[in-house]
Amino acid sequence: MQPPLLGEGGYEVDRILLERTYALDAIPYTPTQVKNRPKIGDPFVKKFWNKEKFCTMQSPRKISLIEEWLRRREDDALKDNPMPKAIVIGASSGIGRALSKHLSQKGYTVGITARRMELLEGLQKELPNPSFIQPMDVTQIEESARLLEKLIQEMGGVDLIILNAGIGISSLDLLWENEKKTIETNVLGFAALANVAFEFFRKQRSGHLVCISSIAALRGSGPAPAYSASKAFESNYLEGLRMKAFNLKRDIFFTDIQPGFVDTDMVKNDKAFWIAPCDKAARQIYHAIERKKKHAYITKRWRLMAWLMKIVPSGIWKRVR
Ligand SMILES: NC(=O)c1ccc[n+]([C@@H]2O[C@H](COP(=O)([O-])OP(=O)(O)OC[C@H]3O[C@@H](n4cnc5c(N)ncnc54)[C@H](OP(=O)(O)O)[C@@H]3O)[C@@H](O)[C@H]2O)c1
Repeated sequence: MQPPLLGEGGYEVDRILLERTYALDAIPYTPTQVKNRPKIGDPFVKKFWNKEKFCTMQSPRKISLIEEWLRRREDDALKDNPMPKAIVIGASSGIGRALSKHLSQKGYTVGITARRMELLEGLQKELPNPSFIQPMDVTQIEESARLLEKLIQEMGGVDLIILNAGIGISSLDLLWENEKKTIETNVLGFAALANVAFEFFRKQRSGHLVCISSIAALRGSGPAPAYSASKAFESNYLEGLRMKAFNLKRDIFFTDIQPGFVDTDMVKNDKAFWIAPCDKAARQIYHAIERKKKHAYITKRWRLMAWLMKIVPSGIWKRVR
């Protein structure tokens, strides 16, 4: 089918595109074409199309010009809005792994870190978009801070950092070794990396810092005193950083994620209930991040438990085992 001839004036760029779809026997505009549809007044349109010559041009030439224009627009769009970049600290298993996969599926370039290199390499093979691996032990405080800076540099910057690495050891016998390990990982390791992230975002004047705390942050816990205290530290530290960013007038977002039970290696507790699959938890965490929420319980039903935990009198709470 011959494309319709252009009328006088010939500046009706939408009509030209229509013509293109006719000529190529194509289906209507793709969403990108709709978004990038040439506007009258666009410098490129003025340069190439505000010429009578264009109106009399043969269709194939017009089409190749339009296609060149679309390519340039898409390249520009990519330059203006490149792939977002995220770093997940503690990505080798559980929530961090599921979240890394989710972010990559959503178009993020992801930097993944943890101690178990073989798991990170396995994960990298599953990621649909480019990724970076950085082995890291967060209890090596200075070293892990340096490695995070190095990873940010290798990735050419970062938009989102998720502090997920953590351990949860039940401490029925109050073994100091276990308490100490928990504090080194969830408090010292966490705070050192939160500082690096904050400093980077402060200089960049934007960014999003997420911490995977826990519902355990809400009250002290007899079975795991260091764990619940360390999670309270994480949540409060993040709030402190949010205040700091506000006072410095920086456009930095902070999201405190407090999961209940999620089905990972960490949950071997036979008293666990409402255990969420990792993928579901990752989806809900991503949703909270995308909406730049300050806080989210994962899964949502844990909001009810949080409310209960907050109101229960300490005389009753101390009986919980
Ligand atoms: N699962 C739950 O029910 C639940 C509930 C509330 C909060 N959380 C929180 O969610 C986060 C993730 O836990 P998860 O349940 O997904 O458990 P997980 O499967 O054991 O994952 C923990 C992650 O943290 C990393 N990690 C631990 N110690 C590290 C260290 N010293 N240096 C670097 N990375 C370290 C681990 O990697 P490597 O071992 O390879 O280093 C792993 O990738 C934790 O902060 C946890 O407190 C979990």
